[in-house]
Amino acid sequence: MFTLAHLSDPHLAPLPEPRWSELLNKRITGYINWRRNRRFVHARAVLDAIAADLKAQTPGHIACTGDIANIALPAEFRHGRAWLQSLGTAQDVSLVPGNHDAYVRGALALASRAWGDYMLGDRGDGLPYLRRRSPLALIGLSTAMPTAWGLATGRLGGEQLTALARMLAKLKGEGLFRVVLIHHPPVSRAKSHKLLDDAWALKRVIAAQGAELLLHGHDHLAMLNWLAGPDGTRVPAVGVPSASNAPGRARNAAAYNLYRIEGTPGAWRCEMISRGIDASGAVKEQRRAMLIG
Ligand SMILES: [Fe+2]
Ligand SMILES: [Fe+2]
Repeated sequence: MFTLAHLSDPHLAPLPEPRWSELLNKRITGYINWRRNRRFVHARAVLDAIAADLKAQTPGHIACTGDIANIALPAEFRHGRAWLQSLGTAQDVSLVPGNHDAYVRGALALASRAWGDYMLGDRGDGLPYLRRRSPLALIGLSTAMPTAWGLATGRLGGEQLTALARMLAKLKGEGLFRVVLIHHPPVSRAKSHKLLDDAWALKRVIAAQGAELLLHGHDHLAMLNWLAGPDGTRVPAVGVPSASNAPGRARNAAAYNLYRIEGTPGAWRCEMISRGIDASGAVKEQRRAMLIG
């Protein structure tokens, strides 16, 4: 049995003190929002408790679906690297970037420099990347792009969608359990300024090629949606709350998921176990569901 852990949206706290020159762009609104609101939501102690509990489960691999940063200050990428290293090696942790990691122009370049080895495929390929961790194949996609003020949208684009379709088809032939990692959800009830622009195209690729599991973040909610796959099959698309969300604050309190995967092509079993933080600060099992099998 293979255990995959998934956490997302750590939004590392505390936010490093910015220089004024670093706030002369979209960061200023994000900074004000952090000071007024988000610093009370995203707690480092909560994230540390979640990460410690996750590591204690000794998963075979860890997936993180983005938003390590908040307003993409250069110091946030350095802190993000230290946090990733505390979670595991680049071999054992797969990362895809979120919109907060691409908050301003140039941020994605900082992310690649600081976190690049966590976003590389087995052959050194960048996003979209492919990592084989038998019986799993992890495909990492990027929806992160700098957007205008007030927007938190994402986009895959035609090149990534074509590559995704090709990878899914090839991996099916290899009999691997295909896991797609993406920051923005393909199905969401969020307002239009937060959505994945080409979600329709992603759903079309999944409908044609199938996948065994799609994992996302971004909405900071525990979510489970079923996407149509080929020949009447269904693909679970699962989102997790922010891994640093303090209990009693906005959205869902911090949690992460474990996936226990076993079986063979056509006869996979995949059980999801959600573990989250409660009001006392303890991390406990909250839910168990058989997604496949
Ligand atoms: Fe987020
Ligand atoms: Fe996000």
